[in-house]
Amino acid sequence: MLFFKITLANPQYAQMKIAAKAINDGKLVAFPTETVYGLGADVFNIKAVSKIFKIKKRPLKDPLIVHIPDWKTIFDLAEDISEVTIKLVKKFWPGPLTVVLKKSAAINDKVTGGLNTVAIRMPNNLIALNLIKLAKTPIAAPSANMFGRISPTCASHVLDDFSDKIDVVIDGGKCKVGIESTVLDMTGKTPTILRPGGITKEALSRTIKSVKLYNKKNDIILSPGMMKSHYAPYARLILVKKQKNQTEKIKNLVLKFEKKGKFIGVMTVKEDLKKFNGLNVKAIGAKDNLKECASNLFSVLRDFDKEKVDIIIACLSEQYGIGLAIADRLQKAASEQI
Ligand code: TXA
Ligand code: MG
Repeated sequence: MLFFKITLANPQYAQMKIAAKAINDGKLVAFPTETVYGLGADVFNIKAVSKIFKIKKRPLKDPLIVHIPDWKTIFDLAEDISEVTIKLVKKFWPGPLTVVLKKSAAINDKVTGGLNTVAIRMPNNLIALNLIKLAKTPIAAPSANMFGRISPTCASHVLDDFSDKIDVVIDGGKCKVGIESTVLDMTGKTPTILRPGGITKEALSRTIKSVKLYNKKNDIILSPGMMKSHYAPYARLILVKKQKNQTEKIKNLVLKFEKKGKFIGVMTVKEDLKKFNGLNVKAIGAKDNLKECASNLFSVLRDFDKEKVDIIIACLSEQYGIGLAIADRLQKAASEQI
């Protein structure tokens, strides 16, 4: 495995070229984006795309996101592109918005898990964009974690999941957003958020007239990767809703489990750290800074796993802005909610 450390101050063009050549040779390259690290392959090399599924142990029906270097490339990969889609991608790209469009013949079924739609985004990260440009091909990339695990927000997380199984790993530091892109289905009547993420519903609503959240009961569109029990840490995760006497409840729960010999971690916000003095507590960010909370969420969950805690007790975040994406990930990871 080749491991390249690249920063804006030290762009390492020679190493970027080697990484791009690896993509062209059908190899897998883990690279940073503004959201999470991706595990990339040339979208037109089906052998390489198949390798992604194999190494991640990802079900073949779970489609990949295609990463492109500029918005106009959507015309090569998708069809029936509406004015609304163009307005959205011009406004939010490069950035953490993935649009689901009708796929063109250029995209192989393997990439889309057999669906006739394709998910596309232009990442807001210079290393990612340079890699795509140097390789001269769109790059299909899921998050660079084992299937069902937490997405990686730094290169060491990628190594924790795959050790030396990947051909090239580009270390570009910590991902700024820290939570995956918003997946927006543009193939129906109303644009529908299949996965809340880095671009908020509020921000989308300011640009287009109508946008709705995927509703399990009423919507038929299915995002195969949105099953429950995704993004899970190894530890059992108990999610605590906002409620009266929340602190007391959590402390009692910790006591109860400690009596049974369990090792507990409590995940909260900075302001509440002192409430849990003496316990194994970590903060993901300041209460009113949901962006900060999102950016640290996955790394704090991974830190608890590294400590080998048996149970993580986490407080549910506010469900507006990017808090909606935080709550979505926590709810999917949690084995119970109290
Ligand atoms: O921020 C991100 O989106 C990161 C970075 C690396 O770009 N990528 C990422 O990929 O999170 P992945 O594979 O972990 O998640 C992609 C999600 C899955 O839930 C998948 O089901 C959904 O996008 N998806 C992909 N293609 C789709 C399609 N054609 N229709 C509906 N959902 C799709
Ligand atoms: Mg993923």
